[in-house]
Amino acid sequence: MNILILGSGGREHALAWKISKSKLCRQLFIAPGNAGTSLCGINVPIQVNEFDAIKDFCLKNDIHLLIVGPEGPLVDGITDTFRTNETKHIGIIGPSAYAAQLEGSKAFAKKFMQKYDIPTAAYLEVTHENLDLGFEFLDSLKAPYVLKADGLAAGKGVLIIDELSEAKKQLNEMLSGKFGKASETVVIEEFLSGIEFSVFALTDGKDYIILPEAKDYKRVGEGDTGLNTGGMGAISPVPFVDKILWEKVIDRIVKPTIEGISAEKMDYTGFVFFGLITVKGEPFVIEYNCRLGDPETEVIIPRINDDLVTLLHDAINGSLKDKILSISDKSAATVMMVSGGYPGDFEKYKVINGTENINTSLVFHAGTISKEGKILTNGGRVLAVTTLNHDFKKAVEISLKNVEEISFEGKYYRRDIGFDL
Ligand code: AMP
Ligand code: GLY
Repeated sequence: MNILILGSGGREHALAWKISKSKLCRQLFIAPGNAGTSLCGINVPIQVNEFDAIKDFCLKNDIHLLIVGPEGPLVDGITDTFRTNETKHIGIIGPSAYAAQLEGSKAFAKKFMQKYDIPTAAYLEVTHENLDLGFEFLDSLKAPYVLKADGLAAGKGVLIIDELSEAKKQLNEMLSGKFGKASETVVIEEFLSGIEFSVFALTDGKDYIILPEAKDYKRVGEGDTGLNTGGMGAISPVPFVDKILWEKVIDRIVKPTIEGISAEKMDYTGFVFFGLITVKGEPFVIEYNCRLGDPETEVIIPRINDDLVTLLHDAINGSLKDKILSISDKSAATVMMVSGGYPGDFEKYKVINGTENINTSLVFHAGTISKEGKILTNGGRVLAVTTLNHDFKKAVEISLKNVEEISFEGKYYRRDIGFDL
């Protein structure tokens, strides 16, 4: 079948790399893609929010499977757009706009978790109308205070504040448009102290299969210091996730979430990303995402032995029941190479050298573009260098050795991925 992947990051390159090996894949297209995805398929100059152009392209190129990488188009309803007559036959990996609110609205997700008794931090939904209650709720909590813009805010909508007076001031500012429409509603949450990790499932809205778990490193600086980023590296599996914790995650979180999706009759064929935290051995949901993570995808996809297109096809046909994934027992570690200055201002279009000589790691492109035979940087996160090895420390070491072989002006990366494990 012909397949189109939407997106342009490391996640989409990892998906394209895996899908291009499938016997079921005839032609693979990526829109808009990057310099790396063009090695696995054909890049198409269409942006992920250009729904009409995407539809036209799918019809002209006999696309049978559309995989939506990022959350934006899902929250904006791309799946619903395709559920109409002429594109009804196209299978889509990604939920409807209604279901995508699990990521697109923090308040929606919290209500869902409350309804289905899924462990998560205590919370209150606040608007200008009940601001007094918001202040009272803050008074009742212990520091630090967690304030979340309800809507998508490019990963910047969560504030964690030490001082009560500052939290009240920020709450006011958020409701008054600090993050635009996204923070017209704010979710105040109890702060949970623990270690974060991520679990992923592929669902057809009724059944699911579990993918390998992962841990990402979000802060820009070594030792988990400095500003939050999209992710500076990741490890899979996560050594502290033992059998006991895993069973709690499945029984208390994954199963009731899928049951809730089914009970609510959500149109949900796609990935569920459970952002979790373990507090003294008990797992809680920090957030849901309605897609795979980046850079988590760069460590989980290489560990899947099965044919990914078959799995996605099973999800679309509603035949995931009793399927069990074959997962490599090797660890995967990815080290993200980023542009100098990221996550603040950075320059683009620096020439990248050395990727062609790497043969002991997979080099997934995150923010790159090809121009006149050269590969140039084209984003904050540039390359994700992934290694598989029986020892995750060794995997990190090999990724780092290969990172040294790749050069571009201003390159930066963390040397301590996995340091805490
Ligand atoms: P989110 O966008 O909801 O994933 O939040 C971004 C980050 O803020 C998370 O990855 C956590 O590190 C942190 N965070 C969010 N909610 C909480 C909470 N209730 N307690 C502690 N940390 C949190
Ligand atoms: N790495 C976190 C995310 O993809 O949201």
